[in-house]
Amino acid sequence: MEMRFERNILCIGAGYVGGPTMAMIAYKCPQYKVTVADVDHERIAQWNSDDLPIYEPGLDEIVKVARGRNLFFSTDIEHGIKEAELIFVSVNTPTKTFGAGAGMAADLQYWEKTARQICQCAEAPKVIVEKSTLPVRTALAMERILTSNDSGIHFDVLSNPEFLAEGTAIRDLEDPDRVLIGSRLTESGLKARDELVEIYANWVSRERILTSDTWSSELSKLAANAFLAQRISSINSVSALCERTDADISEVAKAVGMDSRVGSKFLNASVGFGGSCFKKDILNLVYLCRNYGLNEVANYWESVVQMNEYQKERFVLNMMTAMFNTLAGKGICLFGFAFKANTGDTRESAAIFIAKRLIEEKAELVVTDPKALENARIDLRGIDGDVSYVDDPYEAAAGCHAIALVTEWDLYRDLDFEKIYRSMMKPAFIFDGRNILDHRRLFEIGFNVFPIGKPPLTHF
Ligand code: NAD
Ligand code: UGA
Repeated sequence: MEMRFERNILCIGAGYVGGPTMAMIAYKCPQYKVTVADVDHERIAQWNSDDLPIYEPGLDEIVKVARGRNLFFSTDIEHGIKEAELIFVSVNTPTKTFGAGAGMAADLQYWEKTARQICQCAEAPKVIVEKSTLPVRTALAMERILTSNDSGIHFDVLSNPEFLAEGTAIRDLEDPDRVLIGSRLTESGLKARDELVEIYANWVSRERILTSDTWSSELSKLAANAFLAQRISSINSVSALCERTDADISEVAKAVGMDSRVGSKFLNASVGFGGSCFKKDILNLVYLCRNYGLNEVANYWESVVQMNEYQKERFVLNMMTAMFNTLAGKGICLFGFAFKANTGDTRESAAIFIAKRLIEEKAELVVTDPKALENARIDLRGIDGDVSYVDDPYEAAAGCHAIALVTEWDLYRDLDFEKIYRSMMKPAFIFDGRNILDHRRLFEIGFNVFPIGKPPLTHF
């Protein structure tokens, strides 16, 4: 006998957000049927297999509990739309690469296709939830498309941006700082909003479920990412000054962050932020500001991205300078390729930029990463240069002149660096792009150590 569910929920887009978010709803709410649909057949097949398409700590476990019970992955979007009362849209909204706004504006083609498909297939009223990150006022366009046919079906469009970070997605979804729901402040908008509040209230305390108007909700997501990225660019800018003045960025970050008005999180100097969203969302914000004639505001936020580009380039130039101004023919081992630890995602990873620049300098690259080697191969495919991919970090570093630590995987902290040192060319260099290693100890072993924003420890 077919199981009766209290609600039918559909999510269009089975990516890094759609998959984990819906898995969490299904896990927490066995009374709802949750279907995640995507045009990508291979991705859906992976979601239905033991080898999920994304690596995220804790994800396998919750998918295993809910899949087949009340969580389903499908390519039948049409059927999903007909069946669901509430539809999340979680398709990708990358930076536009063509035409007006190329390189800045959000590419809304996937999102718009989804709106049109919902409009075509729907046979009854529905609540549509924007999960993707979108320019402010996009919900208005969604409403216009949805009401463009003459079926007379009523749709309510809500904004419910996602704040999860990769690598900690399951923790973030299970215990979010806040859930934000924006709606029209009409009777029907508020009713739709309350329905979505009830879904989250199954496991999130009501004080953390924040309701707002649609435009503020849409803009809050862009602003939140811009603020987070701005902290990293701020600390990275100071790291450059530390390197010129013998100040230590960890000491500075600690002193600044202990001010409760500033706070200590997100002040780790690094090779630069990566990931699919910070750069894209800030550029989208910059584009919006320019569009509204707010050039000073646009320039202010654009500088956050410019500082990040500078930090990545600076890392490579520091390597060059330290290694006697030539990298040609030298073996350089990249420890990590993912844009951060605990994910296999390499989108916009600083490692891509660094790898390409090192290859331009004719270095011989060895890449190692516990989860991202497959993506690294794809990112560097077709590049004319000497690159190899090695699972084992000891094997990867052997015979190299330098190690550049790009991703802060815990496993790199605990390696036997004496063994690694013995296997490398001398003088041996370590460039710690995340400041996670024990620099004094590495120096004592014999390495020349170059952290970010700290005085180098060298033997010459
Ligand atoms: P993703 O590329 O991993 O997944 C998007 C999925 O949508 C893909 O599988 C794609 O095949 C599918 N898709 C595209 N067009 C479709 C269509 N017409 N019908 C059905 N499926 C379609 O992207 P993501 O990382 O999950 O990001 C999705 C959105 O969420 C973006 O707007 C992003 O800015 C936002 N976001 C991402 C994160 C993150 O950590 N990745 C966090 C918060 C918000
Ligand atoms: C980020 C935000 O943290 C999420 O809230 C947001 O939902 C998401 O973007 C999104 O919209 O996609 P994510 O990119 O997954 O999440 O990961 P973060 O932890 O924010 O890290 C982003 C980059 O900044 C990484 O490359 C990371 O290594 C770097 N970073 C982070 C630093 O260099 N220093 C820090 O102190 C913190």
